[in-house]
Amino acid sequence: MATDAAIGLETAPGREVPIVILGGTGYVSGEALRLLAGHPVFRVAAVVSKGHAGQPIVQAFPHLRGVLPPGMTFVGPDAPASCWRSGHPAGVLAATPHGATAALLDRVLATAEAAGAQVRAVDLSADFRFADGGRYQAIYGHPHGAPHRIPQFTCMVPELYAGVPPRHATQPGCFTTAVVMAAWPFLRAGLVEGEVFASAVTGSSGSGRTPSDGTHHPGRHADLRAYGWLAHRHEPEMAMLLGAACQVPEPEVAFVPHSGPFVRGIHATVRMTLRKPATASDLAQIAATAYADAPFVHAGVEPPRLVDVVGTNRCHLGVAARGRTLVVASVIDNLAKGAAGGGIQWMNRLFGLPDATGLMLGGPGWF
Ligand SMILES: NC(=O)c1ccc[n+]([C@@H]2O[C@H](COP(=O)([O-])OP(=O)(O)OC[C@H]3O[C@@H](n4cnc5c(N)ncnc54)[C@H](OP(=O)(O)O)[C@@H]3O)[C@@H](O)[C@H]2O)c1
Repeated sequence: MATDAAIGLETAPGREVPIVILGGTGYVSGEALRLLAGHPVFRVAAVVSKGHAGQPIVQAFPHLRGVLPPGMTFVGPDAPASCWRSGHPAGVLAATPHGATAALLDRVLATAEAAGAQVRAVDLSADFRFADGGRYQAIYGHPHGAPHRIPQFTCMVPELYAGVPPRHATQPGCFTTAVVMAAWPFLRAGLVEGEVFASAVTGSSGSGRTPSDGTHHPGRHADLRAYGWLAHRHEPEMAMLLGAACQVPEPEVAFVPHSGPFVRGIHATVRMTLRKPATASDLAQIAATAYADAPFVHAGVEPPRLVDVVGTNRCHLGVAARGRTLVVASVIDNLAKGAAGGGIQWMNRLFGLPDATGLMLGGPGWF
């Protein structure tokens, strides 16, 4: 991928870039900490928490004991001010809830800008996904928290965007990531027509740390059910991104999400109509060619398995076809490729590093 507009690392002391994570005790924040622990350039400088400032980070993430710097504690929203240095690069990874993120990220970015830092942000929430604040308000039901910042953010899946976003980046939602990665090779090549139908199953970690009736383990672990069908907030996001990435009018997307009886991962099954019949192996080859430069993507004719991607930043695609019916199955880890991993991939790009820097992880295989 081109890195023409990326911030250079010449001014980073020891070629180390401080990263501030917003989202404290959240699952995505924890996953970002896990992934960044092995990153050769990014160093977590602060983790901002709304409700747990001063508490040890390992208390929220005991599985990271020994991996995080000893004694590291969560900090309040004004503490990152000590992380900025004039003329030096710095990153902010926002893993806070939608609605709360825009104003918080604006506040943190303003302090970095005032200090003269070369700051770049990646938002993992929904707040900067839509270029139009009115569309955001129509979907999320409240006004945008920092409308003046919207033009600074580019929302896309990294694999579907050539080059470096001009300023900040937004990772799409986890369902959206899985679905658009399945449809993109075929829609952009003009091989399909009509509606894109997607049915996807997510693990319980997709709902975050706070349990609710719909996500609590006893009510979910042996169940499978749809929710928000044909009305999920990711549906317009999928249409918008597919239109933009394929440079076509927004396609009609029909989306049915399901709650699955597992913790991590998304399995999406995407159905499209081919303009002309084609074989599964030819279509899989088209997908493989479209993703030839993408280090995290595999495309073939075998049905992909969640277990092969959980814990990794990978997306595996499987293609089946009969007559004019095309089915693409797509698997990702919602917390990694669908959130923290995709966000770090963007952060790599923004700082001129190869996408895969620090992210080439194998999964556990069995867990
Ligand atoms: N879970 C996924 O698979 C997934 C996938 C893609 C995108 N996302 C997005 O990533 C973001 C984080 O998701 P998550 O699953 O990590 O959620 P989560 O587990 O609920 O964590 C969010 C954390 O943000 C902090 N927080 C809560 N309310 C806040 C507020 N009003 N202002 C500032 N901070 C607040 C809380 O930590 P403190 O109390 O410590 O501050 C909370 O633990 C969300 O926007 C979500 O939509 C999640």
